Amino acid sequence: MITKQKGTMDIYGDMAKKRQYINDILVSLCEKYNYDYIETPVFESSELFHRGVGETTDMVQKETYDFKDRGERDITLRPEGTAGVVRWFVENKLYGNMTDPVKVFYNEKMYRYERPQSGRMREFTQWGFECFGSDDVMSDAEVVSLAYNAYRLLGLENVTIKINSLGDNESRNNYREALINYLKPHINELCEDCKERLEKNPLRILDCKIDAGSDILKNAPKTLDYLNEESKERFEKLKNYLDLMDINYEVDTKLVRGLDYYNHMVFEVVLDDSYALGGGGRYNGLVETLGGPSTPGVGFAMGYDRTLLAIEENNINIPINNSIDVYFLYVSDTEKETAAYLTQNLRLNGFIAETDEMQKSLKAQFKSVDRFNSKYFCVLNDEDLKKNEVVLKDNKTKEEERVNINDLVDYLDMHM
Ligand code: HAM
Repeated sequence: MITKQKGTMDIYGDMAKKRQYINDILVSLCEKYNYDYIETPVFESSELFHRGVGETTDMVQKETYDFKDRGERDITLRPEGTAGVVRWFVENKLYGNMTDPVKVFYNEKMYRYERPQSGRMREFTQWGFECFGSDDVMSDAEVVSLAYNAYRLLGLENVTIKINSLGDNESRNNYREALINYLKPHINELCEDCKERLEKNPLRILDCKIDAGSDILKNAPKTLDYLNEESKERFEKLKNYLDLMDINYEVDTKLVRGLDYYNHMVFEVVLDDSYALGGGGRYNGLVETLGGPSTPGVGFAMGYDRTLLAIEENNINIPINNSIDVYFLYVSDTEKETAAYLTQNLRLNGFIAETDEMQKSLKAQFKSVDRFNSKYFCVLNDEDLKKNEVVLKDNKTKEEERVNINDLVDYLDMHM
């Protein structure tokens, strides 16, 4: 038997219905924020993600699905959504004549070669959004607000937004230097990867999965202490906007995020201090890194699967439809033809209609009525059909009504 790959899952049944329901909520929320839907390819040139996310990040060093295609091109399966959207933005020269920000959202599969466990998959879905063109702190606040409202709409009202600031380039460089000076005397106590990271990318030591929890990292200098005046002011403004918008947040001075492209605001959404349900931040240098002109950007991605797990664990009820409207039963060929016609007609008029496609006995068809939890059923009968009539039975009350076929849609419209 061929089984699914480790860290992947089939999505079906109630779970698939719940995801569709959640998707509808999120799409309608994004539309309220005036974000447009976008899809980018699942695979892109390796360079895009390696350069975009950062060569020394764990994601690129250990987790990307890299391969050569049959034309010897270096290809990577999308590990995150931002780099692909930036590539789209640059390739289509959307930076020209920007009078308003370009805002897009996506809901896509991502691929990371991680050790699979609950909430950590190799194929997983992110619902994310990106905003280009505004460096105003208000757009930072808007992105946090969109993320926050999404979780609240899904019933996860207890989420905490953790925010921090990495500051502008000058602040980041000052912090980098302080971090190197602090870590140097301790470097032999850290893992081999971290030794390499010290000079190349010391910030990445702070989110090392091996050394996480070590006192050395716990006592490391904090980014906020190295912000220059301008960056400090930005961070204060952000907090002010979040307060104004009634958004619950906590400043987490340890938050640096695991991707290289961030500056200024970074944030994560957590529930009960477990893993992040989502994360994002500002990335003013990324468009330039990927070949465009310097353009500010800010965004967020929700871990869709993790969010769903949290919804299940918190017993939040997601309404799903497990019933149909009408089931047509039949015996003769002419009755069967009518069943084909009527199901087609009702479906086109917005009802969920079903009939037998397995040549079942009438008794077995009755069982399907209950299995599908049909609100009405109708045993087609040649005698009735001659009069252009059907007998429609309410499956709960068992009350029945003789209805002219031409009036069936109107009847159901009135009774459902
Ligand atoms: P990220 O923090 O790497 O950020 O991923 C965002 C979210 O995706 C995480 O908080 C988590 O909920 C979910 N996630 C990550 N890895 C896995 C996994 N292996 N299995 C299940 N869920 C996972 C980004 O990807 C950035 N592109 C976010 C962003 C958008 N920043 C700015 N714009």
